[in-house]
Amino acid sequence: MKRGTDPTARTSRTSLVPDHIEALLPYVPGKRVEDLERELGITGAVKLASNENPLGPSLHALAAAKATAERAHLYPDDQALALSLALAGVYGVSRAEIGIGHGSNELIDLIVRTFAGPADHAIVGVPTFACYPLSLAAANVPITPVPLRENLFWDLPALRRALRPETKLVFLDHPGNPTSTHIPADELRAFVRELPADVILVIDEAYAEFATASDFASALSMRDLRERLIVLRTFSKVYGLAALRVGYAISTPEIIGYLQRLRVPFNASAIAQAAAVAALADLEHLRRSVEHNSQERARVTAALSGLGLRVAPSQTNFVCVALERPAALVYQGLLREGVIVRPFGPPLHRHLRVSLGLTHENDRFLSALPRVLDTVPAGG
Ligand SMILES: Cc1ncc(COP(=O)(O)O)c(C=O)c1O
Repeated sequence: MKRGTDPTARTSRTSLVPDHIEALLPYVPGKRVEDLERELGITGAVKLASNENPLGPSLHALAAAKATAERAHLYPDDQALALSLALAGVYGVSRAEIGIGHGSNELIDLIVRTFAGPADHAIVGVPTFACYPLSLAAANVPITPVPLRENLFWDLPALRRALRPETKLVFLDHPGNPTSTHIPADELRAFVRELPADVILVIDEAYAEFATASDFASALSMRDLRERLIVLRTFSKVYGLAALRVGYAISTPEIIGYLQRLRVPFNASAIAQAAAVAALADLEHLRRSVEHNSQERARVTAALSGLGLRVAPSQTNFVCVALERPAALVYQGLLREGVIVRPFGPPLHRHLRVSLGLTHENDRFLSALPRVLDTVPAGG
């Protein structure tokens, strides 16, 4: 056969996507209440699976969103000026140090695409927030996954050992997801200071507002220790605006400037921007949300410990509990009880992550769990 006419050869040369895209698996979010209720023909299911704020959004944020919806025919402010200035005021930084994203997820993806490529290298934890390895794999960036101590606590010496000359990005969720744990402030400070200057350290503080430990410190207090530091925050958790998709990065004007070059125009909707500005000003809602979470965190942790289960010391709005048995079976059993939690693959396949909900939702979980555990023998 003449060169160029063999159909098989043509197929292999022109496959639809590159191999690294072929290998990608899409992100799997927590199961939706509507889906479970439809599947089981039940009503009143509760979802404790996506670390949302059970108190809902601030009423001021809601009012701002509604008012802005009246102008839905107009494009949003591409520069998100009001929100950037409000955040700059809260953190005592300049507007040029703030980047707004379509959720912090967009910022994670932007950071990868902006700063790293196949010739670079990135370090992530195992387990960690699934979107870091996803974005890195999508950009074909080689990754070194570094196991956490007991699968739950950051191992900073191991992160240091994983460094290579070509390491460009290190992703650290702090407090961690799905682990819920934090790094003592002095250890984190030393890590931030000592990491080679050419590495970009991304500290994702999606849950920082819920942290109450006396030795927790935000990396925002460590910005003078290194130039290449990006701190990520979100309005999806304590501010209760997950549906509106708005997050922010705080870093140097240079780093933020590069992220701005790659983001899509109008990446934060007008409704999201207005709601976020109002949410930021509603300190009472913030206080109530944190207080409710702290109370329920202590109560749920004590109740689980009372069942003889080990719970990681949580600094977040969820707990990570060791079940000593296959978590997938317990997850399925809880679904049949109308309770949605979050299972994970190895190494946390014997743990469940349970978001802290309203008191009656947490009670629903706590009363269903012993029944389900009775049906799944320990071990396995
Ligand atoms: C550690 C961490 N970072 C980022 C996000 C994403 O948040 P956003 O809704 O702002 O995209 C989550 C959401 O679960 C998270 O757990």
